[in-house]
Amino acid sequence: MNGIRQLQRNEVIPYHLLLLADETIEAINKYINDSELYIFEQDNRIKAIYVLQIEDRMNIEIKNIAVEEVSQGQGVGKLLLRDAASRAKARGFKTITIGTGDALTMQLELYQREGFKIFGIRKDFFIDNYSEPIYENGIQLKHMVMLKKKLQ
Ligand code: ACO
Repeated sequence: MNGIRQLQRNEVIPYHLLLLADETIEAINKYINDSELYIFEQDNRIKAIYVLQIEDRMNIEIKNIAVEEVSQGQGVGKLLLRDAASRAKARGFKTITIGTGDALTMQLELYQREGFKIFGIRKDFFIDNYSEPIYENGIQLKHMVMLKKKLQ
């Protein structure tokens, strides 16, 4: 089976993938139960995942997006971002948002190339929500940068 599909409630949650994009299971469990999980499968193996959470009637948020390490840099992330946007649009949402750490330059570039625009920050998000400091690219994550894409 190849392609992207929603993970059903009775299926095992691939935490090993979710943990690539989020530091702790505790943090993941805060959004996973009222979210929808979409997986990318190739040859019956789950290679990537994204998580959608409805914010309100207008907006849906990508809470987590992750591609297994050996498959990164091959366009799968871009495919998932486009899939999320097209599913959201088909369901009538007007915008889709995504947040990432202030030191994650590659992710910020990718999201902006895919049409997301920075509209704000969740100040001190990574300090307030995690017990240990998180370092990426040698910089401590502090704020979550929020980006939004219009679905037209
Ligand atoms: N360094 C520089 N550029 C890169 C890299 C890299 N390591 N990886 C990908 N790119 C570029 C590609 O060249 C490509 O450029 P293009 O648009 O000009 O072709 C673009 O980024 C898209 O790359 P994809 O191959 O589609 O990205 P990928 O499949 O690797 O998925 C993702 C991106 C999801 C960030 C993946 O690398 C990943 O899982 N990383 C670890 C977890 C993570 O950081 N998740 C996001 C956190 S934020 C959140 O979850 C809401």
